[in-house]
Amino acid sequence: MRFDDLPLGDDVKRALRLQGYDTLYPPQESALPHAISGKNIVLAVPTASGKSLVAYIAILNSVLNGGKAIYIVPLRALASEKFEDLRRFEDLGVRVGMSIGDYDADDPTLERFDVVVATSEKIDSLLRHRTSWLEKVSVVIADEIHLINDPDRGPTLEVTLTKFRMANPKAQIIALSATINNSDEIADWLQAENITSDWRPVPLREGVYLDGEIFFSDNSKRKVKDLGDPIVSLVDDCLANDGQVLIFVNTRRASESLASSLRSVTRRYIGTNKELREISKSVSTDDEEPTSIGKKLSECIKSGVAFHNAGLSNDQRRRVEDLFRAGKIKVIVATPTLAAGINLPARMVIIREATRFDSDYGHSAIPVLEIKQMCGRAGRPRYDDYGEAVFISKDEDHRSFLLENYLLADPENVYSKLGTEPALRSHALAAIATGNVRSEEGMFRFLEHSFLARQTDIDFLHDTLQRILAFLEDNEMIKFDRDGSLRATFFGKRVSDLYLDPASAVTMRKALVAFRKDAGFGILHALAATVDLKPLYMRRSDYDWVEEILEEKRTEMLLEPPSDLNQYEFYLAEVKTASLIQDWIEERTEEDIERKFGIGPGDIRSKMEVAEWMAYSMDQLSAIFKEEAHETLQPLVRRINKGVKPELLELTKIRNIGRVRARVLFNNGFKSIADLRNASVDRLAALPTIGRALAAQVKKQLGQEQEAKTVEQSVSGQKTLREF
Ligand SMILES: Nc1ncnc2c1ncn2[C@@H]1O[C@H](COP(=O)(O)OP(=O)(O)OP(=O)(O)O)[C@@H](O)[C@H]1O
Ligand SMILES: [Mg+2]
Repeated sequence: MRFDDLPLGDDVKRALRLQGYDTLYPPQESALPHAISGKNIVLAVPTASGKSLVAYIAILNSVLNGGKAIYIVPLRALASEKFEDLRRFEDLGVRVGMSIGDYDADDPTLERFDVVVATSEKIDSLLRHRTSWLEKVSVVIADEIHLINDPDRGPTLEVTLTKFRMANPKAQIIALSATINNSDEIADWLQAENITSDWRPVPLREGVYLDGEIFFSDNSKRKVKDLGDPIVSLVDDCLANDGQVLIFVNTRRASESLASSLRSVTRRYIGTNKELREISKSVSTDDEEPTSIGKKLSECIKSGVAFHNAGLSNDQRRRVEDLFRAGKIKVIVATPTLAAGINLPARMVIIREATRFDSDYGHSAIPVLEIKQMCGRAGRPRYDDYGEAVFISKDEDHRSFLLENYLLADPENVYSKLGTEPALRSHALAAIATGNVRSEEGMFRFLEHSFLARQTDIDFLHDTLQRILAFLEDNEMIKFDRDGSLRATFFGKRVSDLYLDPASAVTMRKALVAFRKDAGFGILHALAATVDLKPLYMRRSDYDWVEEILEEKRTEMLLEPPSDLNQYEFYLAEVKTASLIQDWIEERTEEDIERKFGIGPGDIRSKMEVAEWMAYSMDQLSAIFKEEAHETLQPLVRRINKGVKPELLELTKIRNIGRVRARVLFNNGFKSIADLRNASVDRLAALPTIGRALAAQVKKQLGQEQEAKTVEQSVSGQKTLREF
């Protein structure tokens, strides 16, 4: 069947043709009639089978008839991919936006868009603010819905969909899923058509490598030139046939060291590549501040290989993905964060280990579902005609083990994780604060609409819920009225609006009550002690210096060390994390921080993002509990955002002037915006890290602040993208 045969407007058909879509894939043929007629669907079909396009067509169909759509994704990287795809339909008059940022805002910019790509946390937060835009939504796409199974992120996705269905029952829901055993349960929950298939547009063979041979799950075999090391042999085999390779390993360090050791292989396939050398140089110099991970990455890229892990900044990660997409680098060695949903031109996926280290469970097996997601990155339409996904095995027993337990095994069922106390605590408060729920009874009625209730009898939640309500009441976030009905206090409403875990708010309140003006480090520690900001791990080598800091800052602490010795280690981890925030806002170099804490720029950014949110929230709560803390907290929020001492806050207001450049300006006597106005472009251009282009740009910004602002607003859609 062709796209032309679908009951769609001519302009939509033309747009699809222009993008090279002609015939429908069989799963699309089954799904699209339902999707176009407005029915809810669950599409649980293999990787690469074109699920997104079903979603896009449903969106266009609805939006061009006056509706609004949201596309919920689990990861920022995936959000960019979907955002870019959807923007290709802008000629039809569809305005596409992406919303990932701000805590505590009801985001008036949404009004400008017809389609918004966002994470489930963002949508949940918007629902708490009862954003009127959401009431107009006519289609909700839930991509990678099997992640409902994820203990961290799953409950939010589940609650978001639950609330949506209650608040806006007419909205069409399209859930996209990996192949799972119990998609019928999800479909039943969403009152949706369950569409399954095992058809894949590009054949993908999955196998295990041993001694120069890949044994595939379809019983076929293929010889590979044995060059000694299994990974080197496979990479060489694929590159020699003009393919590209994606390798999954289970730790960041392994991703870096393996990428580095593969340089000698990839180098042979890129020739004397001047362009790559240029790109590699820019990778290490584009950032304002050189980092050691950036240098390592640049070294790898020069030879046509890269690593991809959470230690890289968002920019660096996107860079790696783009270079791989453009065929400029041949191999990526990644941690499994890259697995879900992404389209990359990998002919071969190599999975080095089937286990990973988990801080809660130690070494544990990676679920089949996740392995299948990794395998599914190979052989993507428009890039390759076939794909191969290969495990590395040690011996024959291991080979059979991997074949049976992963490649021939069925993926696990997906289970709701909403029934745990931390998940329920936040969502229960939110349900009360938004007025959705007014009694314990009501809470059960609300939960009855969840996937959890579809899977089990939720009576078992009585005790947990009672404990949670008592906790919220004791901490004055909710109140029982005389007639027994529940409502949120002002404090409770703020906690819900700020998207805080109520337990974090309790920590902040305690710190605020104890607040003193001289409690500098104590405030940073309070931020680090919230459950939302997960503390850094204590390495053995950390104990001495962290305890020293604690000793030194003892009088500044707002939250005392625990009397329970078992808890002491957690306290130290919080102190360590506080000291990371301190180093950041005291302008220690990123390179120093990386070395001292054993983390990468990506970790610094992600921790500081949460720390800023915590500081902002604590500042907001200071209006209730300790007004005088506002004076300290308000500048702290911006200092964390920029990573600077107070004296640089003014300069860092200028675009492209970050912590490093602002310091250079300041130390050269340009201490304020007024100083910069008086300086000549030549004088500024001569400063290290500034240069002519930037100096001119800064001048322009200052001379035409008003216009600069309008330009900024008009590109804010793109700006959000860049912030990824
Ligand atoms: N009918 C079609 N004809 C040609 N190409 C198509 C068609 N449908 C989808 N594609 C292409 O197939 C590729 C994979 O699609 P998509 O990312 O939607 O897969 P998916 O089913 O979501 O996979 P995953 O489970 O890995 O997320 C995309 O590059 C898309 O452009
Ligand atoms: Mg997908």
